[in-house]
Amino acid sequence: MTPLYYGPNPRVAILISGRGSNMQAIVWAKELLGVTVVGVVSSNAKAPGLALAEAAGVPTAVIASRDHKGDRAAYDAALTSLLGAWRVDLIVLAGFMRILSDAFVTRFAWHIINIHPSLLPAFPGLDPHGQAVRAGVKVSGCTVHFVAAGQVDAGPIIAQRTVPVDADDTAETLASRVLVAEHRLYPSVIAGLARGEYFRRGALVFSLPVGD
Ligand code: GRF
Repeated sequence: MTPLYYGPNPRVAILISGRGSNMQAIVWAKELLGVTVVGVVSSNAKAPGLALAEAAGVPTAVIASRDHKGDRAAYDAALTSLLGAWRVDLIVLAGFMRILSDAFVTRFAWHIINIHPSLLPAFPGLDPHGQAVRAGVKVSGCTVHFVAAGQVDAGPIIAQRTVPVDADDTAETLASRVLVAEHRLYPSVIAGLARGEYFRRGALVFSLPVGD
């Protein structure tokens, strides 16, 4: 078992592209979670989440996708240098609408987490709630996982939270119910990581108590 530990009061950067409600849930709880939110980075200059971060007194930066069209390496190099300057211990993706290069993900292996609004490995990618409603599943939810090279909405799962799907749910009604679960799950996982409660065995993640 390899402990996953980021030091006392780990320095967290949150990466967003839009609304920023998960980011806000984390920022509001940061003292309770035992982390320092050193900054919020947006890939979109018009992301509503930027104003929320500023209102909460968190430094913000924009590295705009539109300024790096077709040049993933240049984008990720800019991101790497910013995160290095911020001395980030943990990178939290919260509605960040970009695929990170394998080189970036490998460099920060086991230091990047993401939330996806389905019970992965079910319904990765776009429109997970529509996928869930169309599939007729009775339970959906959300997943926090480590980001792994070469995979989108996949990678070692840290924790999941379930949400019932009602017969009359639409993608929109399900999304709003799952979002409430996201706002509970993501901060609690971050608190657990900050407390050193997680371990990995190979590519799988466990929280205590687990044998060996
Ligand atoms: C969330 O549903 C998250 O799971 C997904 O994108 C959405 C972002 O919402 N990856 P917000 O920006 O955190 O409000």
